[in-house]
Amino acid sequence: MTLPTSHLTPTPTTPTSLIHIPENYFEILRLETLFPVPQPLEVEIGSGDGSFLAAYAAARTGVNFVGVERLLGRLRKLDKKAFRAGLTNVCCVRIEASYFLEFMIPKAGVCAVHIYFPDPWPKRRHHKNRLINERFPEIVAQALGPSGIVYLRTDDAAYFDQMIECFGKSPLFQSEDTPGDLRKFLTDFERGFTDRGVPTRHAAYRKIS
Ligand SMILES: C[S@@+](CC[C@H](N)C(=O)[O-])C[C@H]1O[C@@H](n2cnc3c(N)ncnc32)[C@H](O)[C@@H]1O
Repeated sequence: MTLPTSHLTPTPTTPTSLIHIPENYFEILRLETLFPVPQPLEVEIGSGDGSFLAAYAAARTGVNFVGVERLLGRLRKLDKKAFRAGLTNVCCVRIEASYFLEFMIPKAGVCAVHIYFPDPWPKRRHHKNRLINERFPEIVAQALGPSGIVYLRTDDAAYFDQMIECFGKSPLFQSEDTPGDLRKFLTDFERGFTDRGVPTRHAAYRKIS
């Protein structure tokens, strides 16, 4: 008797989400498996509800984007926005940002990193938790390719001072203006601050080749 084998044939699955779950968190990501088209890569750290990234990626289809967020609920919001918009140049990863940049991104694999309104940890004893600290420029520099750039935004004056001090004294970066056409794309937190009259501070640092 011959048994039917149709149940053994893998059925091609249609993707239902842009969330990527790495098979191995100790290996460098194989970027070619994340996106259908190989293109320059940009990363947004702490993408929150994905308002910025979904809109920015839709306007820049010639670039691939990874949104990194440690809270799953927020990552799902980015996923929903980008997936519904039919974007194939967005990938969402739930992971801690410094670890991701230091250990999972191929060296020199990224051409821009966006970090908007990272948690300010205002209490002095919590400053150690801030993402952007003295070591951060070195971590981000190794992920960036030649002339790669980091874009920063915050509402928090004290954290902004820390950001510009860390990047300002790094020999790996030089300061640059944030382009106006990038500023137009607001984040979710930024909209809230802007509505309440709280100004956004911007900075950009380009890697010295
Ligand atoms: C203040 S919110 C800003 C969200 C978004 N960028 C915006 O402007 O609307 C900071 C976000 O960064 C995420 N986050 C903070 N530290 C992180 C880390 N070390 N790795 C990954 N995500 C982080 C938080 O979960 C949160 O969603």
